[in-house]
Amino acid sequence: MAQIKTIGVLTSGGDAPGMNAAVRAVTRTAIYNGFRVMGIKRGYYGLVFNEIEEFTSKSVSNIIQQGGTILKTARCKEFTTPEGRKAAYENMKAAGIDALVVIGGDGSLSGARIFAEEYDIPIVGLPGTIDNDLGGTDRTIGYDTALNTIVEAVDKIRDTATSHERLFFVEVMGHMAGYLALNSAIASGAEAAIIPEMETEIDQLADLINRGFRKSKSSAIVLVAENPETGGAMGLAQRIKEEFPEYDARVTILGHLQRGGSPTAADRILASRMGAQAITALGEGQRNVMIGIKNGELIYVPFSKATCHSRTIDHEGIDIVKMLSI
Ligand code: F6P
Repeated sequence: MAQIKTIGVLTSGGDAPGMNAAVRAVTRTAIYNGFRVMGIKRGYYGLVFNEIEEFTSKSVSNIIQQGGTILKTARCKEFTTPEGRKAAYENMKAAGIDALVVIGGDGSLSGARIFAEEYDIPIVGLPGTIDNDLGGTDRTIGYDTALNTIVEAVDKIRDTATSHERLFFVEVMGHMAGYLALNSAIASGAEAAIIPEMETEIDQLADLINRGFRKSKSSAIVLVAENPETGGAMGLAQRIKEEFPEYDARVTILGHLQRGGSPTAADRILASRMGAQAITALGEGQRNVMIGIKNGELIYVPFSKATCHSRTIDHEGIDIVKMLSI
């Protein structure tokens, strides 16, 4: 295997708080260990359309606390075609890049796997997504910050919900995974969580809410994971209004505010550890793996496992919401 001299770094897909901390860690660890670093703009788009620049230690100064990504990000259609990936490979080689660190979620790491297989390039991935939906890792970079953002918002909604004795459906992101909805429901003391991993009948939901109100609660909050198939919070609220008109229901869709904000200390530390490990991994000859974390230890997860949607939701969490919302 040819020796790696220059490492390219990119952020791809939905941005996540902590991506900047990861870019900083990758850049500085690489430079510290004698590699050159190239920053690639707008994810794979920057490879396909040659938006590549050399990064120094100063390029990543004062960014650890910033949300978003200084490299910008995109979901690049061109990279899904063989012609696009050929252009990406040629630009990468012209810039002298021998290996890549890709920071992103499911789609980004699936793209990395295909690119690495087609062109035999060493690529190491970092799990950068608020969704926490990658296989083989307990946590993804950005999840903790998004969770805290949601909880802060739900605490505020609780004030008005209590004052008006209302039922609120609060929709959160997650891309067909219920981690954000379930764990924010636990952390905000919500009455129920509706997640794609579990079927919830409308009468079950009505029962849960009713139980809450009957126990002299003056409000009820249901965390709903976005779900295009069911219409998410809007769809649920509509059905509840039709079938149980006695509830004064309201809907809040938190949307993209969940993706912004300064990363929590937990996300900064996770991103810094994983970013440094990505360089160690490339130095050790690792390729086509994502850096994951299991029980506090950093591990290597093959791309195929990271992107296979193997994670299942923890039933303990579902029981906790049920028991603690009586
Ligand atoms: O994967 C991150 C995520 O925020 C998902 O939770 C959500 O479904 C999606 O991205 C939204 O994407 P976009 O910003 O392109 O609307």
